[in-house]
Amino acid sequence: MKVLVVGGAGYIGAHMVRWLVDHAITVEVLDNLSTGHRAAIPDGIHLHQVDLRERQATESALQAIRPDVVFHFAAKALVGESVSRPIEYYENNFVGTLNLLLAMRAAACRRIVFSSTCAVYGIPKTENLDEQHPREPINPYGASKLACEDLLRDCAAAGDVSAVALRYFNAAGAHPSGTIGEAHEPETHLIPNAIRAALGQLPTLAIHGTDYPTPDGTCIRDYIHVEDLASAHALAMRWLEKNEGWQAINLGTELGSSVFQVLALVEELSGKVVPCQRTVRRPGDPPRLVASAVLARKCLGWRPRHDLRSILESAWRWHRSPRY
Ligand SMILES: NC(=O)c1ccc[n+]([C@@H]2O[C@H](COP(=O)([O-])OP(=O)(O)OC[C@H]3O[C@@H](n4cnc5c(N)ncnc54)[C@H](O)[C@@H]3O)[C@@H](O)[C@H]2O)c1
Repeated sequence: MKVLVVGGAGYIGAHMVRWLVDHAITVEVLDNLSTGHRAAIPDGIHLHQVDLRERQATESALQAIRPDVVFHFAAKALVGESVSRPIEYYENNFVGTLNLLLAMRAAACRRIVFSSTCAVYGIPKTENLDEQHPREPINPYGASKLACEDLLRDCAAAGDVSAVALRYFNAAGAHPSGTIGEAHEPETHLIPNAIRAALGQLPTLAIHGTDYPTPDGTCIRDYIHVEDLASAHALAMRWLEKNEGWQAINLGTELGSSVFQVLALVEELSGKVVPCQRTVRRPGDPPRLVASAVLARKCLGWRPRHDLRSILESAWRWHRSPRY
């Protein structure tokens, strides 16, 4: 069994690579290092420095690697940037995925696990979102992921591939060893920014909206540990060994945490005050985004092992002394 992790130098991909190495599964990485880090890839793991937008180079790499299964994490993933640069987002995320599928076909690889997102749902119409919720993304990032999902679904229907799209909610946390973790530039996610503010690396943390119809007025999100995402991918790989076709599955804890709840726990764990500045709501930020993970339990037998405290403890360990 040989696994190719596309985007394996990035935050979540690097945790997947580590999981595979720890479980003695042969793995190679394809990444253009646009937002990823070479230092995130363990010694001895081959990095193919290739850009998915380059069709020929992608095909050549897949011919050389000949993977049995592909985990596809590579994407541009900044919602705000996608609004101002939609062409780049569709090109990177959609054309990149199209080129990867062409390369997989040429290399006779038929199994893919795709990193999708709860952003494909848009504004929630129900309390907890299940996979039947309408897919109505409200930004080009979510729309580019939706286009990839539909491409994969159609290819699966034609018998070209079998595909699982995992729709993550808010990925967070770091490897328990403290050797890999989240290192985005710019960083837009709450948990790393709250920790950086606690460490004095950010002057203040902006809280976007305290007048939402939630118990404490701040947005509620479903934070899922990267280690739990990695274990779900491994189970999706097993699912693809026994099943053909297409399946989209949510990955979340089904528990919502508000911004103020996250900040209180960061302050408790760090023993420091998080300097905050209350600002206006961001357009398109729903009050609550929480998963229903019934299908992940049913299809994959997956259950998250980490709660918010465990997520924050590992993130704190990483951000206190990041390796890259
Ligand atoms: N972080 C989250 O909370 C979250 C939530 C939902 C979905 N996702 C999805 O999960 C995936 C991974 O997210 P992440 O936070 O690890 O992002 P990341 O930016 O840390 O990792 C993405 C990796 O893909 C690589 N890459 C990007 N475009 C490429 C291209 N054209 N060719 C080759 N390599 C390319 C980057 O260099 C990087 O190493 C993304 O697809 C993202 O949309 C993330």
